[in-house]
Order: sequence, then C-alpha cells, then structure tokens
Amino acid sequence: MTPVPRTVLDEVPLYVPKPPVARADGVSHRLFLNENPYPPLPSVLAEISRAALTAHHYPEIMPGELVAALAARLGVPESDVVTGPGSVGIYQQVAQAMLEPGDEVVYAWPSFEAFPIVARIAGARPVPVPLRDGVHDLAAMAERVTPRTRAVFLCDPNNPTGTSVGARGLSAFLTAVPESVLVVLDEAYREFSTSAVDGVELYRRHPNVVVLRTFSKAYGLAGLRVGYGVAQPVLSAALRKCAVPCGVSGIGVRAALASLAAEPELAKRVAIVKAAREGLRAALRERQVPAPPTDTNFLWLPLGSRADEVADLLERAGLLSRRYPGEGIRLTVGTPEANAAVVAALEKAFAAA
Ligand SMILES: Cc1ncc(COP(=O)(O)O)c(C=O)c1O
Repeated sequence: MTPVPRTVLDEVPLYVPKPPVARADGVSHRLFLNENPYPPLPSVLAEISRAALTAHHYPEIMPGELVAALAARLGVPESDVVTGPGSVGIYQQVAQAMLEPGDEVVYAWPSFEAFPIVARIAGARPVPVPLRDGVHDLAAMAERVTPRTRAVFLCDPNNPTGTSVGARGLSAFLTAVPESVLVVLDEAYREFSTSAVDGVELYRRHPNVVVLRTFSKAYGLAGLRVGYGVAQPVLSAALRKCAVPCGVSGIGVRAALASLAAEPELAKRVAIVKAAREGLRAALRERQVPAPPTDTNFLWLPLGSRADEVADLLERAGLLSRRYPGEGIRLTVGTPEANAAVVAALEKAFAAA
C-alpha cells in the first residue's frame, strides 16, 4: 500500500499549472493577480543584479538586516518582526504555530482565497461569514467567535471587493473578540487605501493582533516573494520558529531593502496607480458597468450571473481577469494601455446588453 496523505487534504484544491493564455497577436495583460503594472525601479534592479552575483550563497536563515530596517521603519522592536516568502508564506507559519486540529478559523467570504486552504491544511474548521454589501460584517463575525475559535483572518482592504472596514468598526470588533483569539490583519493593499486602518497601531494596543504586509503589491516585487508580519514577542517568536529556514532569498532581501530606500519614488507610482484606478472606474461607470469604490489596486465588478461571460469576453481581448462565477470579476488596475483596452472591451459588452 502506498503512503496515505492526511485526509484533510481531500478538501484542499490541487493547483495544476496552466498554459499561459495569449491572444493570437501575442498581447495579453495580466489583470488577475493584483500585481503592480510597473517593473522594479532602476535603483532596485541594480541591487537585484548585484545580489544575483552571490546566488551561489545561502541567504541568512532569517534576514536580520531586513528585519532591522522594517523595525526602524515601523518603530517597533526587531523581536516583533517576522519575515516570510510572501505574506502567504507567513499564513503557513500561522497555521503551524497557532492552529490545532478541530480549531475554528473565522473569516469573511468572499475574501482572500488562501483562508480556507490555510485552515484546512492545519486540520482546522473554516468558518466563512458572508460579506454584507461587499464589506466585512464584523458584528456577524464577532457572533461566530466561540470557545472553539482559535483565529480570525481579516483582509483589510478586502480582496476581492476592495472595501475597508474603518477604524471604529475594527476597534469595536477587537474589543468584542477575546484576547485569546488570534486576529490576523492582512494589509496587503493598504498603500492603495485612503481610509484603511493602520494595523501597526492596533498591534500596539492588542496583543492578539498579527499584522501582515507585503512587498508584492505597492512595492512591485511579487516575483521575489517577500512578506512580513508584526506581532507581540510571544506570537512573533512562535511564527519565527515555524519559518522555512532561508525562506526569503538573498535577492529578495536586497530588493526589499532597496525598495524601502526608494519609498518616495514608489509612493509616486502608487499615486499613479490610484489615479488610474479612479479614471478607470469613472470610465466604466459612464458606460453602465457596475464598479463600486475600491481602496486597492483592483476593481471589483459585481456582475452576478454575467461574470463568466464578461470574463470570457475580456479574455478574448487579451485581458486576463480573476473570475468569481455567479458573483463578479476582479480586475487589476494595469498600464494605461491595459486600462484603455478594458474600457473598450467592456463598452462593447455593456452596449450590447
Ligand atoms: C489579501 C492578500 N494577502 C496576501 C497576498 C499574497 O501576497 P504575497 O505575495 O505577499 O504572498 C495576496 C495576493 O494576492 C492577497 O490578495
């Protein structure tokens, strides 16, 4: 008999690599992963090339220089900073460090698709709580917290709906949830927000909060896999113990450090993406495409039963979106060319409706 994997994996989806979808003319725009449309800045690229020369060396087990730079940047002790191969890597650390089989994990739905996967791999029970009008229903989530709840995963601003919960609601939620329940506050998109709460302020006041952030989105380093978390020492030590040794590459570390040094320049790019987002949203709304406000670098189009048809139409135009059948599509704000192509493609779809 062959070895039998854990039965909890029966409910975990298997990722099978897909061939890239390309238009006949070879042009396609990746608007399905909320990536930054711009390549790394020249100063960051220079560091990447320099670091590539030492790719035959292992990186540090945990990147001390990056931890120190992040701690200084955020005004927190170095002991409280955790790094990982993308913030999604830190979710695995959370699962290993904090979840026991049978524990419950409360999160909103739809939200970050990793949530049920992380819970299930740990043998924990996912407890999804429907969004209300696209926003976290924090009162309903607090009600679903029971003595079996070990963690709450909260994505703010939310992927895929782009909404933020607001300071007052989040403070009330954190007061309502027992301190023994871990609250993971995922701020992957916070730099694009005008109203999201500062999770680092909340971690200072609530010892059960872990804040997760990433270099993948606003900093434009998705391909290098660098994420980090901030938590009080009891939690950060547990998360560090569960980190994959050398999990953040030397190239990723140098690129992240160079990006921190180039923050003013990167902030200009974020401002450009935000302006493009508002332009795209206005253009779509003028064309009767539903496009609610968003605090992120993507738009959520609540198209209901038309989601698949519209995603197919975009795909034929070389515009690759993330589809949520029966609910809507999520569309990353891209380059000016990509955004213009989105407007042209959707104009046709909605004119024909
Ligand atoms: C809410 C949220 N958290 C985390 C991630 C993953 O980020 P990283 O690249 O840091 O693993 C994503 C990526 O799409 C995301 O949407």
